[in-house]
Amino acid sequence: MSGSRTPMVAGNWKMFTTSGEGAVLIDHVQDVVSDVWDRVDVVVCPPFTGLKAASTIIELDHLRLGLGAQDVHWEEEGAYTGAIAPRMLVDLRCNYCIVGHSERREYFGETDETVNLKVHALHRHGITPIVCCGESLALYEAGKTEEFVRGQIRAGLAGLTAEQASALIVAYEPIWAIGTGHTPTPEKANDVARMIRATVGAMYGPPAAQAARVLYGGSVKPENASMFFGEPDIDGALVGGAALKADAFSDIVHAAS
Ligand code: PGA
Repeated sequence: MSGSRTPMVAGNWKMFTTSGEGAVLIDHVQDVVSDVWDRVDVVVCPPFTGLKAASTIIELDHLRLGLGAQDVHWEEEGAYTGAIAPRMLVDLRCNYCIVGHSERREYFGETDETVNLKVHALHRHGITPIVCCGESLALYEAGKTEEFVRGQIRAGLAGLTAEQASALIVAYEPIWAIGTGHTPTPEKANDVARMIRATVGAMYGPPAAQAARVLYGGSVKPENASMFFGEPDIDGALVGGAALKADAFSDIVHAAS
């Protein structure tokens, strides 16, 4: 990590937790991470149905916990059955939204083009996107990781203002590391994070590259978090499975502090 960027640890709860279960989890999380709130940006991303309860707890208890959704539609409103518009997330006081997670790309047809539409739609509404990228095992084994991820970044993050580029949060998540217990070495993950930063720099200039935060995601656990956070271009983590257990999530947050 670099001292000039505030670390971030975001929990992606995926399709787990009812709103009641989510409320209990937030209660536990606040108990165990509140001592580092001034040093780490901690974000929880419940399913859509849990956002209202989460937002209410965060507001009533004055928690310094960021709230994120896991997806959004890019249109303002319309006949898009099942979809959620950015202003609905604003209404629930979401500060963040995950975009382009590999599960959305694999199972729901997300592409770099829709990622870009969503990124712009979120910015129009003052929500910060957490943009995911990452290669498949086949691309990794073929040595094509950097080329592939660079393409995702160039297409997914096209057309931002300098200010938006400086607020960027990118999560590098090798698909083969998600939920598998396998991870790249911290050095390899940092190589990709550095390349992502360089690509942001080529697109938007050195100040944006310096300010943008690059998270690592994929089987981050209490046991390995500090190794990733020891790398200069990794500014935190996007955590799946371990974010569903307050103690494990807390250990990861503390490793970032
Ligand atoms: P994992 O998921 O931590 O369970 O590997 C990470 C993610 O998908 O964001």
